[in-house]
Amino acid sequence: MARVTVIGTGYVGLIQGVCLADVGHDVICVDTDVEKIAMLRAGRSPIFERGLDDLLAKTIASGRITFATPSEGWSQLYGDIVFVAVGTPQSDNGAADLSFVRAVAASIAQEATHPLTVVMKSTVPPGTGATLCARVFADADVRIDYVSNPEFLREGHAIQDWYETDRVVIGADATAAAERVAALYSSLGSPVVITDVASAETIKYASNAFLSTKISFINEIANLCDCIGADIDDVARGIGLDKRIGSHFLNAGIGYGGSCFPKDTRALDFIATLNGYDFDLLKSVIDVNNRQRLLPVIHLAKAFPDLHRRKVAVLGLSFKPHTDDVRESPALDIVPLLLQEGARVACYDPIAGNVELGAAVRVDTVWEALDGASAAVLTTEWQEFRDLDWSRARALMTDEPIVFDGRNALDREALVSAGFRYMAVGRPGEHRG
Ligand SMILES: NC(=O)c1ccc[n+]([C@@H]2O[C@H](COP(=O)([O-])OP(=O)(O)OC[C@H]3O[C@@H](n4cnc5c(N)ncnc54)[C@H](O)[C@@H]3O)[C@@H](O)[C@H]2O)c1
Repeated sequence: MARVTVIGTGYVGLIQGVCLADVGHDVICVDTDVEKIAMLRAGRSPIFERGLDDLLAKTIASGRITFATPSEGWSQLYGDIVFVAVGTPQSDNGAADLSFVRAVAASIAQEATHPLTVVMKSTVPPGTGATLCARVFADADVRIDYVSNPEFLREGHAIQDWYETDRVVIGADATAAAERVAALYSSLGSPVVITDVASAETIKYASNAFLSTKISFINEIANLCDCIGADIDDVARGIGLDKRIGSHFLNAGIGYGGSCFPKDTRALDFIATLNGYDFDLLKSVIDVNNRQRLLPVIHLAKAFPDLHRRKVAVLGLSFKPHTDDVRESPALDIVPLLLQEGARVACYDPIAGNVELGAAVRVDTVWEALDGASAAVLTTEWQEFRDLDWSRARALMTDEPIVFDGRNALDREALVSAGFRYMAVGRPGEHRG
């Protein structure tokens, strides 16, 4: 069993750490955020992820996982294999911000006292590994092998995805380093793709770009359905049953959000441009996605010329159900646009983390959000909203209220019979025409 260090205990690093410990490796998880480390040492997870609390408790009890901050002395923190799982957010120009990755790489190169395999879990643009090796790791006093091992987990299903991953991708120049990393996952039995570093980096971006393309494609078809009177539910089912296409990522709505697709598509577009290539398809995918999240505001403003006198309930703040992550959530664009139209906005989410909502209020129950509202916008398809007693909701709201189902997740017939005006994306509803 290997001695592993994971640097960065966010959504990716923490899952990587506890799962590696669970399959038997000795793991140290390191983070600069002292509060996170204190929580983890106390056995509490700083993020919401199904099954994580139990796995954390189990691995802490086994003694195979510990938590530390870099101030405790890097030399004691390095195992033989060091995963880097720090954030790579978007810069103002659309490029991936690699400052956290570079800072970690510089620390490793300066402070490593024994040979290491550094494994990049963070999503970094093609070419990053080569640059880090040439400019940073080449200066280290000890041998450092570099491996790219991109992460494909879905928040909300992260632990299941770790154990049942469709593939493990490993990019390395040295075969022995690739084999060392592959061995960590040997108990999973998943297909392993071993390739060079640049190809592994590209696989990650190409995967996210392709999934984003599927979403923007079905959203374009849904918008067309609204123009021509077709039903996107039937169209998507009819398309998705074709095995060459597949049914995943064909849910029309207000578009993708989250900490990956938006920034990774923009970063790939940036890297393409930097290399002299115009990735027109990807630019359109991004444009379509930006446009989709305007739809609820456009339709509500049309339906209510006096929107500035009305209250709107925004149901859902996380970018998708089963996570507290609000990064790039469509709701966070929709709320300020509604405020700009003069509406009063009340937001409710069962789990989402703290978020800046301007003049909008965040309430503790869905009923408070709906009370006195003229419209509800479904932005995250939490089960609580799917199962809602919409007749009770109707009774709390003003006359002829609208539900804008931004996720095509609600029962249209039930809402219409409860007395709502129903609007969605590509589904029959009164916004068409
Ligand atoms: N979240 C996802 O679903 C997901 C999926 C696949 C890939 N990724 C990629 O994985 C990477 C991490 O994403 P995340 O969502 O886990 O990010 P995150 O922001 O949740 O976590 C990053 C962590 O790194 C810590 N950190 C920053 N600098 C550090 C340093 N110098 N030393 C130690 N810790 C440091 C931060 O305090 C934070 O806890 C990103 O590149 C992301 O694109 C994310």
